[in-house]
Amino acid sequence: MADAAPAGAAVELRGVSKRYGVGGTRTVAAADNIDLDVPSGAFVALSGASGSGKSTLLHLIGAIDRPDSGTIVSNGHRVTDLRTGALAAYRRTVGFVFQAYHLLPALTALDNVIAPVLPYRTSFSKQERARELLAAVGLAGREQSLPARLSGGEQQRVAIARALINSPALLLADEPTGNLDSATANEILDLIATLRSDRAMTIIMATHDPQVAAGCERLIRLRDGAIVDDIDLSGGTPADAVLRRVGQLG
Ligand SMILES: Nc1ncnc2c1ncn2[C@@H]1O[C@H](COP(=O)(O)OP(=O)(O)OP(=O)(O)O)[C@@H](O)[C@H]1O
Ligand SMILES: [Mg+2]
Repeated sequence: MADAAPAGAAVELRGVSKRYGVGGTRTVAAADNIDLDVPSGAFVALSGASGSGKSTLLHLIGAIDRPDSGTIVSNGHRVTDLRTGALAAYRRTVGFVFQAYHLLPALTALDNVIAPVLPYRTSFSKQERARELLAAVGLAGREQSLPARLSGGEQQRVAIARALINSPALLLADEPTGNLDSATANEILDLIATLRSDRAMTIIMATHDPQVAAGCERLIRLRDGAIVDDIDLSGGTPADAVLRRVGQLG
């Protein structure tokens, strides 16, 4: 497995659609003909009401799920054409962070970080890298703690460290602060921003929270599986103006 962190992944979607059956003959468009270009190193927020398709889009980009039609190119891989081994190799270039942490309760913080690479031979020392990552997320000294002994914010830090064990070119985060109080949420966001500037990584983050979205460089809003707004938040827009704007956008 490659050790060097590549430059952040560029992601390109063309005409990507995904429908789900919702009983009988009814279907819902979870992704509706999406065209999207995310350049290498971008930090993008996905917003939109519950059910608008944020998680679906992250799952399609991360190849957890497959679209009904359209193409996805990510980090040089034509994701929609990949099968078996190549698909697994692509997924290893992507880090996922979820709202509910999904740590393995019987494993220590250190072993949770190592878990994704446990079955593989790596060119790096798993223990060493996991320790470095736990230190990078502010958890030096907590390597042997079980998840139940960690706060929500600490568990999410472990989950972020775990997502970084493969030096991903792309980090996909689905409501990473959704279970946290606002002070802890801000700490996690600061951490993500710091990690991003330290490592070449593209980040796409789904969030309900306008304040969280305002911390990103670009805001994409979904409705019924389609992109209805794509706003550039970089270039020194005052935070309160951004907040007003994304607040209005919901
Ligand atoms: N596995 C599935 N089976 C059936 N319908 C699904 C499935 N996954 C998603 N959907 C539907 O697809 C649409 C988009 O769902 P998605 O989970 O992507 O929304 P979301 O924006 O992430 O919502 P939330 O903010 O509540 O997490 C919704 O109508 C949802 O009910
Ligand atoms: Mg979701």
